[in-house]
Amino acid sequence: MRGIVVFGYLAALVSPLLAVKPEDFKTCSQAAFCNRGRALSARAAASKSPWISPYSINPTSLVFSPSKSSFTAAVKSSLYPEIKFELQVDILRDGVARVRMDQVDGLRKRYDEAASWALLKEPALKEEGQIVWTDQGKTGMKAVYDDVELITLIRSGREEVVLNGRGLLHMEHFRTKTRANHSQEPTPENAWFEGEEEHGFWEETFKSWTDSKPKGPESLSLDIDFPNHPHVYGIPEHAAPLSLPSTTGPDPAYSEPYRLWNLDVYEYESSSSMALYGAIPVLHAHSTKSTVAVFNALASETWVDIHHPTPDKSTATHWIAESGILDLFILPGPTPDAIFEQYARFTGPTALPAHWSLGHHQCRWNYISSDDVRTVSRRFDEEEMPLDVIWLDIEYSQEHKYFIWGQSFPDPVQMANDVAAIGRKMVVIVDPHLKRTSNYPVYAEAQERGLLVKKSDGGEFEGWCWSGSSAWVDFFNPGSWTWWTKLFSLVDDPSAGWRWKDSTDTMFIWNDMNEPSVFNGPEITMVKDNTHYGGWEHRDVHNVNGMLYHNATTNAVMTRTGSPRRPFVLSRSFFAGSQRIGAIWTGDNMGTWEHMAVGIPMTLSVGIAGLTYAGSDVGGFFGNPDVEMLVRWYQVGAFAPFFRAHAHIDTKRREPYLYDDPHKSIMRDILRLRYSLLPVWYTAFREASVRGIPVLRPQYVVFPKDSRGFALDQQYYLGASGLLVKPVTTQGATETEVYLSDDQVYYDYFDSQIYRGGSKSVTVPAPLEKVPLLIRGGSIVPTRARPRRSSPLMKKDPFTLKIALDKTGFAARGELYLDDGETYAHQQGELIWRQFIASKAEKKKVLAIRSVDLVSRAGGEGAVDGITLSAYDRENAFARDIADVTVERIVVLGLESRPKSVKLENGKELQWTFNEGSSAKGKKSGAASLLTIKTRDVYIVEDWSIAVEL
Ligand SMILES: *[C@@H]1O[C@H](CO)[C@@H](O)[C@H](O)[C@H]1NC(C)=O
Ligand SMILES: *[C@@H]1O[C@H](CO)[C@@H](O)[C@H](O)[C@H]1NC(C)=O
Repeated sequence: MRGIVVFGYLAALVSPLLAVKPEDFKTCSQAAFCNRGRALSARAAASKSPWISPYSINPTSLVFSPSKSSFTAAVKSSLYPEIKFELQVDILRDGVARVRMDQVDGLRKRYDEAASWALLKEPALKEEGQIVWTDQGKTGMKAVYDDVELITLIRSGREEVVLNGRGLLHMEHFRTKTRANHSQEPTPENAWFEGEEEHGFWEETFKSWTDSKPKGPESLSLDIDFPNHPHVYGIPEHAAPLSLPSTTGPDPAYSEPYRLWNLDVYEYESSSSMALYGAIPVLHAHSTKSTVAVFNALASETWVDIHHPTPDKSTATHWIAESGILDLFILPGPTPDAIFEQYARFTGPTALPAHWSLGHHQCRWNYISSDDVRTVSRRFDEEEMPLDVIWLDIEYSQEHKYFIWGQSFPDPVQMANDVAAIGRKMVVIVDPHLKRTSNYPVYAEAQERGLLVKKSDGGEFEGWCWSGSSAWVDFFNPGSWTWWTKLFSLVDDPSAGWRWKDSTDTMFIWNDMNEPSVFNGPEITMVKDNTHYGGWEHRDVHNVNGMLYHNATTNAVMTRTGSPRRPFVLSRSFFAGSQRIGAIWTGDNMGTWEHMAVGIPMTLSVGIAGLTYAGSDVGGFFGNPDVEMLVRWYQVGAFAPFFRAHAHIDTKRREPYLYDDPHKSIMRDILRLRYSLLPVWYTAFREASVRGIPVLRPQYVVFPKDSRGFALDQQYYLGASGLLVKPVTTQGATETEVYLSDDQVYYDYFDSQIYRGGSKSVTVPAPLEKVPLLIRGGSIVPTRARPRRSSPLMKKDPFTLKIALDKTGFAARGELYLDDGETYAHQQGELIWRQFIASKAEKKKVLAIRSVDLVSRAGGEGAVDGITLSAYDRENAFARDIADVTVERIVVLGLESRPKSVKLENGKELQWTFNEGSSAKGKKSGAASLLTIKTRDVYIVEDWSIAVEL
């Protein structure tokens, strides 16, 4: 969080203008290595004769592993024949290929640990190398050992991923700074880069900052092309459409490459390839025939150019990174779901969040006192608006010394306990900059233990942030982890030093500013020649920095009370692997319609790159949205995995209870809608936590063969529930177009209007009080309809099942996953996982509605990671705890006629009502028929069956 600063000493550092200052951030041409990389590709493109890569493999050096699932080869470059490189290609499980290249016997070591932070563990080779490496390459994968190509993934004769096909591979080797004036003696590269030369090899300046480059040039460039994939997605974080527009070629949408360099971008633009707070170097390429992906494990500043050599057919990308080895994973797919699963097997799936954290979060910079917090909590109650979490931004702390409560918070423990009385939690901010003052025990201990980030000369790095003169803990030092954990401990240990005693186990944490944000640093971050644990420069590790901090805090929160509980820590910065840790949000957005709209593709984009627990600030961080915008923004937020309202210190208060009706009631209804759908959210998170499939599924993920949906990024599906949402993000809208890919019936969630799909868009009414939400025919959606003040109060609430019959009029399916939502007991089998099935019974004209135990059906597999049937007992403690929770109502949409009877298995008649309407079958539109069954003796943990006789 950054903003218009109210503190005198910072005023000069932060712009008062209401827009990003692009000149604060580098363009490619202002980063010497990027300039060189782009010059190289321009030269190759302009070359009259085919551009030949100077890198080649020496075929006699090839060494295959005995299983033929790996090989190494010596690589040399004709530019510098004396420099040696080694290429290693490993085939891992799922046919994932890992391609590594490093300099051999160089003057120094290149940074090679980016992947290890992202990976769950070091991946093993595939036992049997079923993939044949040939130079023919008609099937499987091929390595081409000539001067042009290095690696190509070929499937069914189609080229899918081509590395170095355009010959842009270049790994700048380490060298000695010898000459006094470099430009007098051209190097081979000098001519090659066509004048883009050695500028910036050993030093470069940006505005008033000079980056000393003691290691000299070490950049890495590579082209990765997808000759048969017209769409690429991913490489978050950018405020850009989901299907990434081009940055080079004719008429590029953006003139700068997509930049990955975690930055605190003040009032970022709503459409730009500029870097933002997080970086996940994962790119998916998609076509009607297949999906493939690459994970390019780079932690240094990276720029990615994208263009489409043949529009609507192919995509070419060019990656330029400042440092690091080449360590690239090719994920073969061939479907979007397969990519998600492959990526999750290597980098880990999403951590299953605490259930309460999927509720509604209310934040503001700042709630100014403990009484303010109590009032906010009480006001939500008075207006019967559900809320799970109240947040405290930086002003709770004394002089921005995090953990230390300021004067207006005299009773933090009592405050948290008051809020917790109805199950609510608090989230309190802890930022990574530590005020440099000896009366701050956190700083003093970090300094004493030698845990702080150092300057290039070995001295303590000092920079400016909220707390004034500050220092940063080096979380690359594993020694910092145990120390950091201890600070959060709620267990007394007098020998352990300082800990946060004025806290409770219902206080969770927010890690902001962890890119890291340094107000007086270049581009508002840390200087690149700072050094970290292991001697690495900040330039080598920057993009991983935020994740390590997030991880350390999350581990600390998990173990605060001694026994592990599911943590909640929100982070602004992230990297590949952050999904294992916790939630992120899209940073300091602005209260404009454009920012509201772009928050959707931004959330989808991090989601497909593995990090599905994400959302944007409701209302926009900056500015004062009018009430129409705010209502629409609550509708967007209610359909984001992470749902938080937040506002800048200079904005007017905008808690939803402050408004008049009808807007207040509309917002109340949206909040209640979110809570009624919590079973759907939690079930979707289970799937993300096991299989890695994102909670929000863009159109192309659900319909990967329908090219009309490939660029859609304002509508999406909620897990596998069949719910399709398209929040309104334009002013004055009264209706919206929703694209329905398949020949299926869809129902309006609220009024049961029938829409029939099949490669066409339909117009759905969207007055202000209505978020366009459809249920796809064939789905059963479990909901909890009773409004409560917080989600823990819903634990024993009954369920309503919404059955949306498919176009046959006789089939639907749905799922429900539940556990205690807080501990790890689910990993011991304390959970329920049910499937609901509606199908035609053998007897004609009977719709059978059943609930079955999905854990037994699936052999235990897939319930949670690693559980087996033998570890699962249907009568487990959690199931016993909710044994009396019922299904109180079943609503069936689209039945073809009034039932003759509705009976339980034992023959008992159930009460029901039927509203005439359109049938799922046939062609009629209008409102669907509605059967409402009032059930008795139907329990959520049990198998049951209901027969609807027509
Ligand atoms: C280096 O040489 C170039 C070309 O002769 C010249 O323009 C430049 O001023 C020289 N730089 C220094 C620092 O001497
Ligand atoms: C996260 O923390 C665990 C426990 O300290 C550690 O083993 C792991 O390496 C850390 N991972 C990251 C990405 O920081």
